[in-house]
Amino acid sequence: MIPVILSGGSGTRLWPLSRGQYPKQFLPLIAKHTMVQDTLQRLDGLAGLQAPIAVCNEDHRFIMAEQLREIDAHPAAIILEPVGKNTAPAVAVAALTAASAEDVLLILPADHVILDTVAFHKAVMQAKLMAKQGFLVTFGVVPTEPQTGYGYIKSGELIAHSAMKVAAFVEKPDKATAVQYLQSGNYFWNSGMFAFTAGSFLQELEKFHPTMLAACKKALAAAKADMDFVRLDKALFSACPADSIDYAVMEKTDKAVVIPLDAGWNDVGSWSALWDVTAKDTAGNAICGDVFTVDSTNSFIYSENKLVTVIGVHDLVIVETSDAVMVASKDRVQDVKLIVDQLKKLG
Ligand code: GDD
Ligand code: MG
Repeated sequence: MIPVILSGGSGTRLWPLSRGQYPKQFLPLIAKHTMVQDTLQRLDGLAGLQAPIAVCNEDHRFIMAEQLREIDAHPAAIILEPVGKNTAPAVAVAALTAASAEDVLLILPADHVILDTVAFHKAVMQAKLMAKQGFLVTFGVVPTEPQTGYGYIKSGELIAHSAMKVAAFVEKPDKATAVQYLQSGNYFWNSGMFAFTAGSFLQELEKFHPTMLAACKKALAAAKADMDFVRLDKALFSACPADSIDYAVMEKTDKAVVIPLDAGWNDVGSWSALWDVTAKDTAGNAICGDVFTVDSTNSFIYSENKLVTVIGVHDLVIVETSDAVMVASKDRVQDVKLIVDQLKKLG
């Protein structure tokens, strides 16, 4: 089984800590290792692991290589994208790089937290068996709120152990639909991790998006290799249509199965999600760095350089870095992207 690390996000929802040049997956946000490193290290102990493949923007090549070296991971390849084309092409170039069409790929976003490694390993081992039978495996998380930023999976008949056929896959439904799915009780959130053989994925991509597959093949055939880096051809990859694996393949395929995953999964998509998974003091404050609190509760307070002191505040996110300070109400953290967009416009 080949772990494929997808690292393409710019992580703007965790501004000002996460930046375009240094997005969240390269930061040690909740542990001593960075999220990229955790993504690989949580696989330790799984049987039959092959060398990982990482797919990232070429701007991040040295950070990626360095972070893999630090944990002694020896990648089969670090595939470099000159531009981001979303996850379907990223997975396609990884699948085309695999030595054999029979190789099982375990697709792993580089920026997720999974608290229960044992439960995760169990799900992955079952996913591997299903993948070998030609299925495209998703990992389903029981939803707790009508989030519109996730894919929703309707489970169908049970096939083996806990694996069920996917009756429907709906990527990022609107709020009303998400509410309905949540109430119906038979939908999972798509975790964004997948398992399938390189051959099964490429076959489905050929069926649903032949132009994308052709463009990926060309960009890879003309790629330049140097050390572990595989530098996709800029002009050819730029011509590739952009789409996510969810829209391009998972919504359309009839080969999808879902394996329930109850492992403390969190995609750390916001400051409040980070607060959720960070250890807290008795007042519910998650604190990083030099911080002093008086009569304050349920806040996330992060200090990089200065002593940050707070008095009588509740449900806030306060982040201090060398060039920015952000204070936000915890229930408005999704709007951090508004600030990032405004700042981009200002240059
Ligand atoms: N290499 C590469 N290139 N990686 C990419 C690219 C790209 O162009 N675009 C995104 N990625 C990486 C991101 O860094 C992240 O690790 C992962 O692929 C998923 O991309 P997101 O952009 O974070 O997707 P999403 O959160 O909107 O939706 C996906 O994840 C949800 C769960 O977190 C979907 O799979 C949803 O269905 C799912 O619920
Ligand atoms: Mg995401």
